[in-house]
Amino acid sequence: MSEPLPPNGRATLFVSRLAVSQFRSHAQTRLALDGRPVALHGPNGSGKTNLLEAVSLLSPGRGLRRAKAEELARSGVGAGWRVRAEVATPRGARAVALTGEPEGRRRVEIDDKAETQTALGEVAPMLWLTPAMDRLWIEGPEGRRRWLDRAALSFFPGHAEASLAYERAMRERNRLLRDGPNDPRWLDALEARMAEHGLAVARARDAAAARLRGAFENAKTLFPLAEIAIVGGMGSGLEKGARAAPGDGAQASGAMDDFRAALARSRREDAAAGRALTGPHRADLSAVFAPKGVDARLCSTGEQKALLISLTLANARALAADATAGAAPILLLDEVAAHLDPDRRAALYDEIDALGAQAWMTAAEPGLFDALGGRAQRFAMSDGPDGSVLEPCDA
Ligand SMILES: Nc1ncnc2c1ncn2[C@@H]1O[C@H](COP(=O)(O)OP(=O)(O)O)[C@@H](O)[C@H]1O
Ligand SMILES: [Mg+2]
Repeated sequence: MSEPLPPNGRATLFVSRLAVSQFRSHAQTRLALDGRPVALHGPNGSGKTNLLEAVSLLSPGRGLRRAKAEELARSGVGAGWRVRAEVATPRGARAVALTGEPEGRRRVEIDDKAETQTALGEVAPMLWLTPAMDRLWIEGPEGRRRWLDRAALSFFPGHAEASLAYERAMRERNRLLRDGPNDPRWLDALEARMAEHGLAVARARDAAAARLRGAFENAKTLFPLAEIAIVGGMGSGLEKGARAAPGDGAQASGAMDDFRAALARSRREDAAAGRALTGPHRADLSAVFAPKGVDARLCSTGEQKALLISLTLANARALAADATAGAAPILLLDEVAAHLDPDRRAALYDEIDALGAQAWMTAAEPGLFDALGGRAQRFAMSDGPDGSVLEPCDA
């Protein structure tokens, strides 16, 4: 096992303050942090994942549990939940606040100004790994698509907006095909929007996959190389369009026209199916565990987990090297340490340290963080009579 290194203190993107109130098991939890990783230990049910979930809400979407709005408020308390954070970024500090409102709405404020969910994507790229994702490679494509979309979002904050616009147009077309009126001009307009935003979605995913591949070249990592590909979901025209060079407008607009024409042709089948049968919403991500040349689906549970960690680290390396992002993302690694043997665990800590990422990590046993030494800020979580209690503790 390697000797712990001194803290590098290089993280330039990190949560510097966090205040969580009336959120799940947390009545009132406050933290002041520096850029080092955050190691949380405590027994099962003490509120570790809840705290990571609160942090995950600082990025667009429903957070790392994909929770329904009504699940987030602390039960038995009338007041709405609130997560406030100060985030240090390479472009200065940002204040982010999320508030659960009646009817399950979520209010977003950035620097005291009301903002949309998607605006959160501009503040802090964030990636996470949770125990629920252990089944990512063996379940249906939805989870893998979501993983790919988070990767795309980390590089291209506008991806959230394009995905939403695509989904909205598609839902409206589905409804029109189902309920009528059968108005070709209205359908034309919706299909034009699907084609425009669908191509943007496909291009962002494709570019993200290319960045991930690039991050494996000459990488210093003990985690296995993953060979990834985006499969299905698009006609070959759209696939070519997704790969068109940024300046190649003709290729891209040709792909858009092809997708639009394909949608117009498939109105009858789509109406019968109740949904659009082609488009980027049907894409999937495949991965091969390169050391053995085996598809991720067929790998052992441990290999599948190693692949996900490996891809997450690759994503983080790519962001750290990216001129626009300019920083490693915030990482939320829930119960990851426990599933690694000691050498791999030490390697994970070393790689996080080299990245300069504020990685939030949880474990039931404090000993799982031993190899971190003084490179992390440590906290003990326990389950008190008034909810989760967090206490700083020394290595
Ligand atoms: N809305 C809620 N209100 C109050 N407690 C909640 C709520 N949602 C979950 N909990 C409690 O949070 C605890 C689980 O916390 P969690 O963060 O998952 O624990 P762990 O430390 O094992 O990760 C459970 O005891 C659960 O009952
Ligand atoms: Mg947990």
